[in-house]
Amino acid sequence: MDSQDLDALAEKAADLILESRKLVVFTGAGISTESGIPDFRSPGGIWDRFDPDDFTIDKFLNNPESRRKQWHILKEGLLTDKALPNPAHDAIAELYRLDKLDCVITQNIDNLHQKAGVPGDRVFELHGNMQWAICLECGRRYPLDEIKPRLDRGEEIPDCEECRGMLKPDIVMFGEQLPVKVLEEASRRAMASDLCIVIGSTLVVYPAALMPIYAVESGAKLVIVNLSSTPMDHQAAVLIRAKAGEAMSKIAQKVKEKVGR
Ligand code: APR
Repeated sequence: MDSQDLDALAEKAADLILESRKLVVFTGAGISTESGIPDFRSPGGIWDRFDPDDFTIDKFLNNPESRRKQWHILKEGLLTDKALPNPAHDAIAELYRLDKLDCVITQNIDNLHQKAGVPGDRVFELHGNMQWAICLECGRRYPLDEIKPRLDRGEEIPDCEECRGMLKPDIVMFGEQLPVKVLEEASRRAMASDLCIVIGSTLVVYPAALMPIYAVESGAKLVIVNLSSTPMDHQAAVLIRAKAGEAMSKIAQKVKEKVGR
């Protein structure tokens, strides 16, 4: 996308943000690729290198080899306590500081929206958060920075140091129920929004992908910032086929200028 087109589209998106009273931002893995975290369905993404069928809750609980593979996938791709927010995360935090953001609903488990400065009570993590692992026997929680060194030292299936029970990352695996209260509140916020900005998602995984649908069905306008097409592109008032960092920085900058900050 050439910079003139991007500028004009960012201008339109900024105007929609200024007019809105309840902006919900919906993010997927594509917002974190510029932080060095691979997404799932781009060429070279996680599902190009690993089989999603191995990433089900049923296999994790019942098949030690699958459990080993799932910890390996997390170690190789998603266990990123070193990742830092990129300009797209920073732009969303800026919109929060400008009092223009109701909340972020994210499919990501990387904690980068919180690291960028959006308060935890304004981030709804539909697929959990990779900051913790939980013992399924005694319930003890382990922070990520205690688990990662154990994996780096070659432990393939970390277990609970307290009771030797099975440790499970605090994320939602395929076939697993999403956290009910988070999903309920995120759905409520989406339905109450008057503007929904989708950033970095193929919008193919449910029920997460229902969020922007709920927003649009409730009358919200839709902005999509995504490098590839999505099933909702035709419903977008503004469709930006550009990198999230560049597009969101430009949008946030225009909002700041328009509010005179
Ligand atoms: N800027 C804009 N868009 C980007 C960027 C970027 N820098 N990098 C990638 N993208 C786009 C890709 O083109 C793709 O359309 O982001 C999208 C990422 O889509 P997916 O990899 O499918 O990620 P996501 O939609 O979050 O997947 C949903 O699937 O595997 C499960 O639980 C996992 O939460 C995940 C869910």
